[in-house]
Amino acid sequence: MEPRAVELAGGVANTGRVYRVGGLVYRPAAPARPATHAFLRHLAGVGFTGSPRVVHTCGDLEILSWLPGRAARAPLPDWALTETALLSAAGLLRRFHDASAGFAPDEWEWPVPRVPQQYRTHLIGHNDVHPGNLIFVGERATGLIDFDLAGPSSAVWDLATLARAWAPTLADEDAPHSEAARLDRFTAILDAYGLPAADRTEVAEALLPNHDWTYQLVRTAARAGHSGFREYWRAVSPRTERARNWLIAHHADLRAAAC
Ligand SMILES: Nc1ncnc2c1ncn2[C@@H]1O[C@H](COP(=O)(O)OP(=O)(O)OP(=O)(O)O)[C@@H](O)[C@H]1O
Ligand SMILES: [Mg+2]
Repeated sequence: MEPRAVELAGGVANTGRVYRVGGLVYRPAAPARPATHAFLRHLAGVGFTGSPRVVHTCGDLEILSWLPGRAARAPLPDWALTETALLSAAGLLRRFHDASAGFAPDEWEWPVPRVPQQYRTHLIGHNDVHPGNLIFVGERATGLIDFDLAGPSSAVWDLATLARAWAPTLADEDAPHSEAARLDRFTAILDAYGLPAADRTEVAEALLPNHDWTYQLVRTAARAGHSGFREYWRAVSPRTERARNWLIAHHADLRAAAC
């Protein structure tokens, strides 16, 4: 008999340790499991359908509902580069934040590393909305998975992560769209999310700190000997450095595009 458990590839932190069995996903339990599971239960309780349900836990595993669809992975495939994909991802993030807003974060221990203090509010954000953590049905983003880094955050911070991946804020030689199109897509993300005018330039300001926070996390794990992160960092570090330089060179363009 064939094994029933099918490996779900695409992740880095838990490479080779995420499996699907029927409608269930078995993965290493979130590092801040009590908080993360209370949060996922809250999302389910307020009727948000775009996150997995906690079914149960067993030893060091969490068993979650499988969300139908497919995750994207960088470099983004054609279906993930469409306007539908872009706008639906921003819309999904907005619905997620609206659902998150009623959850009281203070009584829980959240995972480290925390996002930088200036981007922490009473809102619990996802903090890792990279393409591999978004589920699509066709070209439409329908689900968010992998809440391992969820914790006190802000709309601005999650939007900065989303925009880096989906504009995307890459150097010309690495980017699937022209520079003008990338800036337009950045504007479109903020429009589709419905971010108030007062906060829009803050997202442009958050892009570089968000980039640095993310790759610091990757480098720290790689240096600590995590083989998945080591391999990932080796593959992406040149592109990452070019993206960082592009963000610095286009700071004023990004601020203008936010308005
Ligand atoms: N609940 C779910 N529903 C549908 N697919 C899932 C679910 N959980 C995981 N997957 C699939 O498994 C892949 C890896 O899962 P996951 O994101 O949990 O791994 P990870 O190694 O922790 O990721 P990361 O590198 O983002 O930390 C995802 O990209 C997705 O394709
Ligand atoms: Mg993941």
